[in-house]
Amino acid sequence: MTGGTDWPALTEAAEMLRQGSTVAFPTETVYGLGADARNTAAVEAVFAAKGRPSDNPLIVHIADPAALTGLVTEVHPAAAALMNAYWPGPLTLVLPVRPGVLSPRVTAGLDTVGVRMPDHPVALALLSAAGCPVAAPSANRSGRPSPTLAAHVLDDLAGYIGGVLDGGPAGVGLESTVVQVQPDGTALVLRPGGITAEQLAAVVGPAAVAAVPEPAAGSATAAANPAPRAPGMKYTHYAPRGWLGVVRGASPQRVAEAAAEQLAAAKLGGEVTGLLLFEEHQALYPAAAADCVVSLGSLASPEEGARSLYAALRRFDEAGATYILAEACPEAGLGAAIMNRLMKAAGGSIIDAG
Ligand code: TXA
Ligand code: MG
Repeated sequence: MTGGTDWPALTEAAEMLRQGSTVAFPTETVYGLGADARNTAAVEAVFAAKGRPSDNPLIVHIADPAALTGLVTEVHPAAAALMNAYWPGPLTLVLPVRPGVLSPRVTAGLDTVGVRMPDHPVALALLSAAGCPVAAPSANRSGRPSPTLAAHVLDDLAGYIGGVLDGGPAGVGLESTVVQVQPDGTALVLRPGGITAEQLAAVVGPAAVAAVPEPAAGSATAAANPAPRAPGMKYTHYAPRGWLGVVRGASPQRVAEAAAEQLAAAKLGGEVTGLLLFEEHQALYPAAAADCVVSLGSLASPEEGARSLYAALRRFDEAGATYILAEACPEAGLGAAIMNRLMKAAGGSIIDAG
């Protein structure tokens, strides 16, 4: 027990879900905080534990694609093709919700629901044993980096949730890609994630993948933008406690020079500094360029960066960092999702090294 939060065994956890309690569990992306998606009181407990705004809908998790027909009214052939290719896996499909099955709190009043089948043995076993659709947002306090370890869940939510199932570190490390297939068959990416644009294009064709433009945080266009998007994307997210800026520039040398200069100035000003970099660039920085230096691994392996990003952001918190700079990375493959999360964590603050 940790502050009222239990470490149940799997069958016990499934029973807790059926009884209307909340249980955090591992998925291949990040840890989720689960509740029976049909039970409004249970779903409300998820929103309360996270401090999540009630207009931000939850993703519903299923163990078997056959369960989808009970939850939605229609599946576009392009959506079916994507499911065939990537379920189980880090892909959420937004589909027209079947009225009267799920708690209206899950969909936040929308006429659509996001559904996914996670690719994790513990998650699948829990979902099968519970025998109900499970609503599960990432198991962090709203606005904090998503949890990639059971310990991160407890750091944020101990005492506020019924239990945690420990499945070790999450494999992908970033959340699922949220896609809404348009009537014309275009796969509209509402949130980039574990399934890359390239992977979507391999199924629906490169001309049929579109991304919702990201308005700058807090800009007038954020409110005025009529394009459909994941409601959650408008909130500041994934943020460490200190100030974070993303540094980009024409070359790694320029980025390192500009970042080192800013960090030195910040340190003189009394800040506790942090630096998030890629392994290849470490040698471009002076020794002790920041109080806390964390590597996202090799630029050649965005998978490694994705896996370690949220834990890295939490490490800056542990170090008490108040001023953090992060190197930008190329937006190919999983790099797109990494940059999306970094830019959100930075609240849009960019330092252009020229
Ligand atoms: O990988 C994941 O997706 C993880 C694991 C636990 O499955 N879950 C997750 O949930 O990231 P959450 O709640 O942190 O993010 C869900 C995102 C939010 O941006 C939300 O606005 C969007 O999905 N979303 C959910 N239902 C939607 C809907 N009907 N229409 C548009 N966006 C939706
Ligand atoms: Mg989340």
